[in-house]
Amino acid sequence: MTKKPLIMDVDTGSDDAVAILMAVLSEKFDILGFTITQGNRPLQNCTENTLRVLDMLGANIPVYPGCPAPMVRNMTPGRNANNPGSPITIVENGVEYGIHPAYLNLPAATSKPQKQHACSFILDTVKNSPDKVTIIAVGPPTNIGMAFRMDPTIIENIEEVVFMGGGVHMGNITTAAEANFFHDPEAIKIVLDSGVPVRIIPINATHAACIKVTEADELTATGTKAGKLAGELIRLRADASRRMGWHDGTEDPIHDALAVAAVIDPTVITDWRRQTCNIDIGGGASDGELLVKDDPNGNVLVAYNADQPKFYQMMLDCVKKGN
Ligand code: RIB
Ligand code: CA
Repeated sequence: MTKKPLIMDVDTGSDDAVAILMAVLSEKFDILGFTITQGNRPLQNCTENTLRVLDMLGANIPVYPGCPAPMVRNMTPGRNANNPGSPITIVENGVEYGIHPAYLNLPAATSKPQKQHACSFILDTVKNSPDKVTIIAVGPPTNIGMAFRMDPTIIENIEEVVFMGGGVHMGNITTAAEANFFHDPEAIKIVLDSGVPVRIIPINATHAACIKVTEADELTATGTKAGKLAGELIRLRADASRRMGWHDGTEDPIHDALAVAAVIDPTVITDWRRQTCNIDIGGGASDGELLVKDDPNGNVLVAYNADQPKFYQMMLDCVKKGN
């Protein structure tokens, strides 16, 4: 089975870390590199966290830091003040809880990031690849949008771009928008408008396939480093989400891992709809909202539901292999 050439853009992040484990351990991908975007945490933290996960796996895959801020959204006076978005941490009795640790509970990275910028890496790699490249983007898509702006011809050698992001008639950072697309609406719009084949795994699908804390315990019980990390991060997310009133503490959506699972085996998604998509870049109350209409000629496949037991089994099968 030939491995799929892949560039993965991450803002590591707890669910990004589980997604990285699945991408590496699935053995389905020839991972050409990880590009780093800011989002869950500042760029430096996301870079260090990605390196820590790869060091733990002993995976010799290059890491390319990218843009430290969104393309333009922070330049419009008042845009963020109009629509601040919900916090992702809470302080209780002087202790801060959140779904994304500043630094993952792993040894400090020994491997170093590459000096080449993520965007130039994407351009060089896609243009020179003998086979079409798949891009999986699970953070604010600034690096992807910028690369498409720098050289729109790269779509000729891209198999597809798969985003974890968006929510159709549901949001998580605001009432209208999901975090990744909210943090750089212009970047995602550039890619959607380019005509490149796109799949979107929105929170409609990820919330239909939450991983249970009991399943997290099974991941830990595999005894592998990957299983222990995945289990720890899922329990951390479930606890923090409970404290913030988002979920009941028994389970949590592991968003980014479902995006990777959907590329490994698209049948993990049980409701794909071909649609034309747009993004609100207006800066108002629905800033960053994913807007869709059914369209048999649309360039986007949007996921609306998922097979949770299949998703969990895929995650378990991957972490069992993880030293
Ligand atoms: O809204 C969920 C997304 O935002 C995930 O990618 C998570 O890691 C955060 O980046
Ligand atoms: Ca992410």
